[in-house]
Amino acid sequence: MSEIVWPNLVKFIQDMVPERSGLLKELEMECQAEHIPMIQPQVGQFLLLLLSIHKPVRILEIGTAIGYSTLWFTQALQDTRGHITTIELDKDRYERACANFLRAGVAGRITPLLGDANELLPTLKGPYDFIFIDAAKGQYGEFFAKAWALLAPAGVIVMDNIFLNGWVIDMTWPHRRKKTMVVRVRDLLENITSHPDLLTSLIPLGDGLSVSIRRNAHEKS
Ligand SMILES: C[S@@+](CC[C@H](N)C(=O)[O-])C[C@H]1O[C@@H](n2cnc3c(N)ncnc32)[C@H](O)[C@@H]1O
Repeated sequence: MSEIVWPNLVKFIQDMVPERSGLLKELEMECQAEHIPMIQPQVGQFLLLLLSIHKPVRILEIGTAIGYSTLWFTQALQDTRGHITTIELDKDRYERACANFLRAGVAGRITPLLGDANELLPTLKGPYDFIFIDAAKGQYGEFFAKAWALLAPAGVIVMDNIFLNGWVIDMTWPHRRKKTMVVRVRDLLENITSHPDLLTSLIPLGDGLSVSIRRNAHEKS
């Protein structure tokens, strides 16, 4: 994203994110050292803001990794009955996330699920008030369709990394095997920004976020 968004602006926004708690800071360093993907802190701050406004009771996350983003979400649940269900495919990451939730003292507010979201999503009982999609980018279309079926009438769906390092913007890919993923994400963005049932905004924060709600949600809820 540094070529798309002015690098000084990115650094300025990052520097303005308040210092994170001990465990979040520790996980940032772990993710960096072990190349484990995680949301950027400025994305965490934005999602915390969104959750604090929206006050969801039921949150669903697709792509836990070691629980960094989930722990950001728990900060918005302190004065609510909120609960998070989060799905991770990789067993080692799932176990590390479970340990991190225990360490943070929030395990009771989280249901971590191990498995493929494509298989697990149809088994879940909605509705969810807030759904965050942050797993395999080439499958975002399937995740979005399955998440949509679980979304509460006034629910919000957010997807992370929608610009795919900017490849989605100028339709380039560093290697031929990335082409399908880039084309799929671009098609999905065109679909969700033009679909009559959806109201979507694309936000150039981190590697890009999409925020979608049902159109006329207030009339349907
Ligand atoms: C970008 S990371 C998630 C980062 C996490 N949200 C955070 O910010 O801390 C994506 C995760 O999705 C997991 N994943 C990929 N495909 C998946 C699938 N089909 N079902 C569930 N998890 C999947 C990967 O193993 C990886 O840990």
